[in-house]
Amino acid sequence: MRYLTFALGKGRLANETLALFEKIGITCEEMKDKDSRKLIFTNEELKLRFFLSKGPDVPTYVEYGAADIGVVGKDTILEEGRKVHEVLDLGFGKCRMCVCGYKASAALLKHHELIRVATKYPRIAKDYFYNTKHQTVEIIKLNGSIELAPIVGLSEVIVDIVETGSTLKENGLEVLEEVCPLSARMIVNPVTMRMESERIKGLIMRLREQV
Ligand code: PRP
Repeated sequence: MRYLTFALGKGRLANETLALFEKIGITCEEMKDKDSRKLIFTNEELKLRFFLSKGPDVPTYVEYGAADIGVVGKDTILEEGRKVHEVLDLGFGKCRMCVCGYKASAALLKHHELIRVATKYPRIAKDYFYNTKHQTVEIIKLNGSIELAPIVGLSEVIVDIVETGSTLKENGLEVLEEVCPLSARMIVNPVTMRMESERIKGLIMRLREQV
């Protein structure tokens, strides 16, 4: 049996994924040592390997087959546009991709004005405005704290993740339109999907019973 390699997006998603895997008997004791500087962890018995990477790199590892399986947010899957199979909604990390701004900016969306849109997700924003809304906009890529953009006058609206809505509320902004719902997803390399189909199907079945 060959090793199956998992790439997990660093942070909360990885912790929830490991907790879910534990429920179906997949454990990786090595990974629990917080002081370890090791990058890759092995479960010899089950022939599994795990590594943590930046979220946006997970679909890259999976497309190239450096990882067979990845767990990452739907936002990252859409933004990266890699050739991977999305096989399961894991049900956690639920949030929404939304167009947000000051209430007064709703009219700019309604009347299809040429506006500026700040976002960490230019591909998702472009697809939404051009293909769904048919509105020409200028997209400005930012790397974080996106809510600042309308406040300081960089853009009229933003496309960003909304979870509890408290960041928006505390900054006087609101959801103007919903782009799509998001959650953690399992993705699989297309070759692994064919070559290891029984193992992958078994894994999906056992996970599905838990989510
Ligand atoms: C995300 C997102 C929002 C916030 C939404 O940012 O970009 O800013 O969380 O969560 P809320 O609706 O529960 O307030 P994150 O904290 O990941 O950091 P970033 O702004 O640097 O991207």
